[in-house]
Amino acid sequence: MKKPVVAANWKMYKTPEESVNFVEKLKKKPLDWDEVNIILCAPYTSLFEMGNSLRDDGFVSLGAQNLFSEREGAFTGEISVEMLKACDVVWVIVGHSERRTLFGESDEDVCRKANAALQNGLSVIFCVGESLEQRENGKTADVLQHQVTALLSKLDEQLLSMVVIAYEPIWAIGTGLNATGDQIEESHRLIRGFIEKEFTSTSGEVSILYGGSVNLGNCRELSEVSEVNGFLIGGASLDADQFAEIVTTITEVKKE
Ligand code: PGA
Repeated sequence: MKKPVVAANWKMYKTPEESVNFVEKLKKKPLDWDEVNIILCAPYTSLFEMGNSLRDDGFVSLGAQNLFSEREGAFTGEISVEMLKACDVVWVIVGHSERRTLFGESDEDVCRKANAALQNGLSVIFCVGESLEQRENGKTADVLQHQVTALLSKLDEQLLSMVVIAYEPIWAIGTGLNATGDQIEESHRLIRGFIEKEFTSTSGEVSILYGGSVNLGNCRELSEVSEVNGFLIGGASLDADQFAEIVTTITEVKKE
C-alpha cells in the first residue's frame, strides 16, 4: 500500500509569518510522520522562510502553487523552476481549476508548465476535474481523459514517478459540496485506466488524490474510498489543528 499523500493548497492566504507559525505548530503534532507524505503548497512570498524553517527536518515537503515554464527572461511577475528550487521547493501544483478558469491557462499551458517542472527536478501535483455542466451532460470521462492524456502523451515515462494526479471536480472546490464516494471511485478508476493506457507497467506508482471540500467531517468517509491515495485540501488546510486531524485520519484509515 502506498503512503497517503496529504497536500495543503493555501491559495492566496497567509503571510510569511503566518506560514512559518503554521509549520512550527504542525511540527509539534504527534503525527505518524513515517506513514504519510505531507506537502504544504504556500504562496510564493512564504516559500523562502518556510524553506528555512523546514530545512533540517524533512518532515514535510514544500510546494508552490504555480510556476512559469521558461528558464529565465523578461517575464514580468513570473517565477521559474530554479527560483522555486532555491527555496527548497520540491513540489508544484499545475493545472488547478482556478488557474485554468480564472487565469485562462489552456491544456497546452499547463502541460508546458508540468514538463518544465518535471524535466528540471520538481515533482508535480497535476489537477484535473470536470465542471458541473460537464458532469450533468455526461462528459466527465471525456474531460478527464482529455486532461490526463494531454499531460501523459508527451511525458517521458521515467518522470511518471514524480507525478501525482489530483481529481478535483470543479463544482466541489470551495463549495462545501464534496463528491460522493461512488463518484470519486468512478473518476479515480477512469483516471487510473487512462494512465495505464499510456504507461502500462508503471501506472500503479501514481498516487491519485481527491480534492474538493475535504474537511474534518467528511475526511474519514473519503479516506475509506480505496482508490483515494490522499487529499489536496484548500480551506480546511489553513488551520494547523484541523489539517493535522485530517492527516491523522487518513493515515489511520490507510494503515488498516
Ligand atoms: P477546497 O479546495 O478544499 O477549499 O475545496 C481544494 C482545492 O482547490 O485544491
